[in-house]
Formats: sequence, structure tokens, C-alpha cells
Amino acid sequence: MTIWYGGDYNPEQWPREVWDEDVTLMQRGGISLATVGVFSWARLEPRPGEYDFAWLDDVLDTLHAGGIRVDLATATASPPPWLAKRHPETLPVTEEGVRLAVGSRQQYCPSSPVYRDRARQLVTRLVERYAQHPALELWHVNNEYGCHVSHCYCEVSAAAFRTWLEAKYATIEELNRAWGTAFWSQHYDAFDEVEPPRAAPSFRNPTQLLDFDRFSSDELLACYRSEVEVIRATSEVPITTNFMGFFKPVDYWTWAREVDIVSDDTYPDPADPLSAPYAAMVRDLMRSLGDGAPWLLMEQSPSAVNWRPQNAAKAPGQMRAWSYQSVARGADGILFFQWRQSAAGSEKFHSGMVPHGGTDTRVWREIEQLGGELRRLSGDQVGLEGSRVPAQVAIALDWDSWWALEQPASPTNVSYLETLFAWHHALTSQGVTVDFVRADGDLSGYRLVVAPAHFVATDAQLENLASFADSGGTLVVGFGTAITDEHLHVRLGGYLGEPLRRTLGVWIEEFAPPAAPDLRAVGGGAAPSVALDGEVLGGSAAGSIWAEYVRVEDAATVATFADGALAGWPAVTRRGGDASAAWYVATLPEPDALRHLAARVLADAGVELPPAAATGANLEVVRRGELVFVINHGAEDAELLLEGTDLLTGHPSQGAKLHPQGVAVIDGMQRLG
Ligand code: GAL
Ligand code: ZN
Repeated sequence: MTIWYGGDYNPEQWPREVWDEDVTLMQRGGISLATVGVFSWARLEPRPGEYDFAWLDDVLDTLHAGGIRVDLATATASPPPWLAKRHPETLPVTEEGVRLAVGSRQQYCPSSPVYRDRARQLVTRLVERYAQHPALELWHVNNEYGCHVSHCYCEVSAAAFRTWLEAKYATIEELNRAWGTAFWSQHYDAFDEVEPPRAAPSFRNPTQLLDFDRFSSDELLACYRSEVEVIRATSEVPITTNFMGFFKPVDYWTWAREVDIVSDDTYPDPADPLSAPYAAMVRDLMRSLGDGAPWLLMEQSPSAVNWRPQNAAKAPGQMRAWSYQSVARGADGILFFQWRQSAAGSEKFHSGMVPHGGTDTRVWREIEQLGGELRRLSGDQVGLEGSRVPAQVAIALDWDSWWALEQPASPTNVSYLETLFAWHHALTSQGVTVDFVRADGDLSGYRLVVAPAHFVATDAQLENLASFADSGGTLVVGFGTAITDEHLHVRLGGYLGEPLRRTLGVWIEEFAPPAAPDLRAVGGGAAPSVALDGEVLGGSAAGSIWAEYVRVEDAATVATFADGALAGWPAVTRRGGDASAAWYVATLPEPDALRHLAARVLADAGVELPPAAATGANLEVVRRGELVFVINHGAEDAELLLEGTDLLTGHPSQGAKLHPQGVAVIDGMQRLG
């Protein structure tokens, strides 16, 4: 067992003699796993049906001889230009009707039978040839499904959408009912009248949009499945496809069941001070998607990327600190894009593990250092890989809600992710580890579940959340929850609906989000906010994004709106006894206030805050298995307070200094203590 270390390896960009040097350097850098062939289709099949595997044989043999394992990609993410030349209908079409061209990458329509068939033929050959290759560790299907093209509006996709709708609704009248086509003269007489939601004069039908989001995620999944089927027929080697953190177009809950190991690509912006806590949330999602099983960080950048308008380099030590963040939060492997920085092509200014400047460089030294450390942390003696990250707190995450809440013609301009992140950050900044869960999943292992903005709620989800609270769990429901059912039909009779109304003891009469006059919104300025007051928020505070008229039936009002028409109305309510409770929060309190509230809720739930691990601000503390990881994301030195041994230095941890970007992996708190 080892903590994997490596990256995307695209040697076809380099002359043969460089490959030997690559392997020598990989050995020096502690590299154990190379992802090969991600964008190699044009090289593997230069003309339709004419395959050239000799070079890939050489790559795999060379790596194998050097003791490097291989994550072999199926190479289907970017079809060669000949496919579009012969089958222009495989090119995707945007909602405005623009057909995207060759010359970049990922130019395929996910519904195209021609694309899928060609992809399967290639995968069949690859599996025949390499299933038994001794270097093979993992199959890497396609790449970042949906990254550039997640929704296709071409005629082929339109037909596939109709088939999908017919399977779902059976009759056109059922579709009419679900989509609410009685409004705006949208009634359909037959399935062949239905189109994807292409660019239209005004708001498109919301349920049509939502179904198209669901369909588009499913179509990509069908592409994945069609390749997996070919691989599984011959090979028992585990299969993954790389996810992209909180990637809106693809419902990873559904996907995660079909990968053998969850893997993720994350590129936090080094220039954004919130990147570390945001990335922490991404890592927590990856662990949660696999039900707590270890996952792989499949791609991150050694330093700068090249696709932002401004591409900050990672600070010295930052790559290492963020890598340990992944390991702390459950990753059993740290990989990069890409091994050797390109000399040509679209990503030549994206950092590589071996930079343009070669090995006498900061980036390479940091790569080598981390490789050595991870090697020393690997193995049974430390017991890191395979170990779990315990969590007593979970946040409910739901793609339907994300898709629907951010549609136009809604009460306010909510960012679903920003709302989740606010809660996640409020909890993790107190040292609490947070999982993500499905609202209808098994919640029994948690003391606290937070459901922010769970806009689209099925009956089963509502029953599950309510029964969690009714059976002694502490539940927090945030604004914008359970407004509609799964067809986006409003739950009538007061927002929130049963059974949450009973569990929380409140219902919502009207939305009244804080608004800014349009002129200010256009000119920027502060986000519109509303004043709040309550001891649970630490006194006076501001709320943003959402506000509403909350009607209390059987709950205590513990914070109120403090100005405007809402003055005196409940902003936060609590129903419950001394132990567990059910909370409702009708706005998004500013960060300090939310942290205050989260602390109060954690106390309700009986979640003990861990003892302070170190002095200082912006520290991240996570327990994984027997180890405690402390990462200093702040600008000041911190002093470790925990007793034990820092496995990275071999010295006692207590009293040791942690510099900015410094990391400690503390052992012995239980084993020695
Ligand atoms: C990913 C992609 C890689 C590379 C990387 C650059 O989205 O999978 O191939 O392009 O971004 O940051
Ligand atoms: Zn299409």
C-alpha cells in the first residue's frame, strides 16, 4: 500500500530520448503513478480503424521497467479531427445553435451514437492490448465528463431527449402536467413537438430546463457506462473517471456509485484568500461521494494554471499545504496535471511538475520534497492510507436544488454553492469535520444535519430529514428549502410544507429578499443586506441573499430581522428541548454571525469542539484515522499545542512552530497518550 504520487504523463509531446529521462526523474521525485493517454486518440487511431499502439507499448514498458504504475486513460475525451470531417453531426451545438468546431478539445455530442461507437471501438482495442499489462493499476475513463460541453442542443440530442422524456413520463399528458404547460400556451400534443430548451424569447419552461439538466447529466453517464461495459468484460482492474469538485452540470451522487474509486481535479486560485476553506469543502465532497472511502486527487497544478485571466503562482509551500489538505480529508493519492510542462500548445503556460526551467527550480524541489514525504508516510506502520475521516456533522447536497434554485425567474439571485460554502466554512473553521449527504440518505451516523436551500424536495427527502430530527438528531433547515416538489410545482399552503412544518414548528408566508435598487446592482457596491438581531448570532449582524416572513406555530424565535418591513419578524427559530433541536434560518447571516450560530447548534447537537491544536488564525485541523493534520494557511507563525510526534519532522509536536504554509502530521495522541 502506498499514497499514490504522480500526474498526467503526455510523452507523445516529446522525443523518445526524453522518456528515459522522465522515468529517472520520476524515480527521483518519488512518483508512483502516471496517468497516460488522456488526449491520445488522434495518435492511437490516426485514421479511422487504423491503430498505432507501438508507441504506447513503449511508454508502458518504459514506465514499468522504472517501477511506475499506470493509470491508463481510454483517450476518448477528444476525438481526432477525422471524426468531425466524416461525421460533422458528432460536433456539439450550443443553445444558440452554434456548432462547435475542431481545433480545441472535447468536441463531441454526448448523445451521438457515432461518437459512442467510435469510442467503444477504441476502448475495445485498448483493453485487448493492455488489460494484462503488468504496469496497469487503474483505468481512467474519458476525462472530466462535461468539462467543456455538458449540454448539447443538436438534433441528435433533441431526439435522445425525447426518448428520455418518453421513458420518464410515458404519456405526453403526464409531461404536460409535470411541466405545467397549461401556462403560456405551452401544451404539447405529442413528444415529437418537444425540443431541448434552446435560446427562446423569454423564460424557458422551468421543468423543461430541469429535465434537460437531468437528461444531460444522464447522457454523459451513458457515455461513461458504455466504456465501462467494454472494460469490465475483460478486466478486473479498478475504474475511475475524474470529477471536478462541485461541478454543477453533473450529478455526482448518481455517478459516484459507478466508479471503483472517486477521483477529483481541483484548481483553487492561489490569489483567493478563501481558496483553502473552499478546497476543504471540495475534499469533503469527494470523501462523501465514496461513502467515506479514500479517494484520489487526480489533478492539481504544481503552481500556476493558464486559464484564468490572471494566473497567480502558488506561494512557496502552498502546493504542499494544499496536498496535505487532501490527504487529511481522505485522499490516498496526490497527482498533478501535468508531468512535464508543455513547450507548445494551449497549456504551455500551465505549470508542470518538471517546469520549463528544469529541475534546478523551486517547483521541482517542492515536487521532490513532497514525493519523499508521502513515501515515508506510506505503509502499515503509519497506517494512513485506507484510514477514515470521522464526521458527526453533515450538509445535505442536492443537484436538483442547485439546478432549479439558480434558474431565472426566481425570488432572488441565490448562489447555491455560496450558501453551502457559508455553512461549511462556519462549521469547519471551528475544527469540525463535515460530510456531505443526500437528503434521503442514511443520516443515522450524524448528530447534526444542515439542509441549506434544499429547494427541490421529494416527499422521501422531507420524511427522512424530519424523522432524523424527530428521532433525536439536530436539524438545521436554511431558507429556500422544500419550496417545490421534484417537478418544480410549489408545495402549497405555506412554503416549507409538511412534514418540516411540523418538525420545525414554522411555515413561510412570503419571500422578501433584501433588494438593491438596480442602479447600485449595476454599478457594483455592497451586496444588499438586511439587519438581524439575536444573541445566537452574537448580537447585531447583517443577513444577505434571502429574507422572508416566517410564521411561528411551535418554536422559539431566537433571532429577528431588525429593520424595514420585516423588523421584529423571526429570522432564526428553534424548536426542541435541552438536547436536540430543529432550527430554521430565514436568511444567510454574515460569516461571524453564522459561526456564532453554528457553535450554538453544535452545542445543541452535542458535538464537542476539538481542543485547540495550535495558536494562530487560519489553521486547518483535521483528524484522519489515528493522525491529526494541522495546516497553517495563515500569514503568521503558529505554535502547536497538541502532544505527540510530528511525523514530518520526527520531533515532538507540542511547542513546535508551524510557519505559514506549514504542515504537521501528529501521531501518538492516542497511541502514545
Ligand atoms: C483539467 C484537464 C487537464 C488540464 C487541466 C489544466 O481540466 O483535465 O487536461 O487541461 O485542466 O488545469
Ligand atoms: Zn448533440
